[in-house]
Amino acid sequence: MISSATSSGSMTGFSHPARLRRSVLSVPAINQRALEKASSLACDAIIFDLEDSVAPERKAEARDNLRRLFATENFGSRERIIRINGLQTAEAHEDMALVLSCWPDAVLIPKVNTPHDVQLAGEMLDEADAAETLRIWAMIETPKAILNAAAIAEYGRTAGARLDCFVVGLNDLRKDTGVPAEPGRTYLVPWLMQVVLAARAFGLDVIDSVSNDFKDLTAFEAECGQGRAMGFDGKMLIHPAQIEGANRQFGFSDEAIAEARMVISAFSAPGASDLNVINVNGRMIERLHLEQAERLMAKASLADQNRKDQP
Ligand code: COA
Ligand code: MG
Repeated sequence: MISSATSSGSMTGFSHPARLRRSVLSVPAINQRALEKASSLACDAIIFDLEDSVAPERKAEARDNLRRLFATENFGSRERIIRINGLQTAEAHEDMALVLSCWPDAVLIPKVNTPHDVQLAGEMLDEADAAETLRIWAMIETPKAILNAAAIAEYGRTAGARLDCFVVGLNDLRKDTGVPAEPGRTYLVPWLMQVVLAARAFGLDVIDSVSNDFKDLTAFEAECGQGRAMGFDGKMLIHPAQIEGANRQFGFSDEAIAEARMVISAFSAPGASDLNVINVNGRMIERLHLEQAERLMAKASLADQNRKDQP
């Protein structure tokens, strides 16, 4: 039964509280060397992947790797997400059992098509009495998911539904639609914007798709810049070499921080408490800019904290 009551936080706009998700690195759960490296990397979040990057005959071995890793490794302030196999696959139940024993920050459901998929994942967690702090992320990577993005986001924000974040997956989407990979992503942009809009309509975070070419960092940074301009919070990454560029492109420049401080100080000046619009050096600043500035400062402070957490 899909209820219409909203969960905590704002119904629209940005997620609350602000989370830092500039760089979301995927690590194949089968790759021991990469798993060992992950806790020392400067990414904001790590997706431990049991799905596309793990061959069918090695799924159990991959689960064992994660079980050991979560028992021993400390990931500091990085968010830890486990991507399970599709809910319709034979692996999904064992993957979910692993999630419940590892207790990551979130479980990422691939190939979500409809709100029902998010509901199903939520029911699996509810049946195990998992606390609501264990969240759900959804891959938006099928034609149906793009068409249903708003309905998925709306359901995901109903009370108890746990959905926090969309991650776009263009490799699968290109395969299913026949739209080829090309610089600028011209024919994919309308779909990407639809996903961003759906996420924002219901207060979800939204992460841009991976770039497969991890050697061409100039093209990668250009794509990060495009993602930022489209409104994404960050990018899913496949290689450590991509972390620095993503953190920079989705990060907060000195100028942006100075601007945010100026807006905050303008609204805290004497006499400004009952004003909604202020003239600052010939520019109109509205109270909505104050909200934006406060959110930017909150994220910049999390970025600072992450920098300090690095070994
Ligand atoms: N996470 C952590 N470490 C990684 C990594 C990742 N995703 N990808 C590579 N590394 C490490 C390697 O282990 C290697 O470590 P070392 O120098 O200590 O030996 C170092 O970074 C350099 O790696 P490199 O030799 O350039 O690449 P590779 O051939 O080892 O791996 C890929 C290339 C594409 C196979 C690998 O990056 C990868 O599997 N990425 C993730 C794929 C994925 O998750 N796909 C599913 C989502 S789309
Ligand atoms: Mg995929």
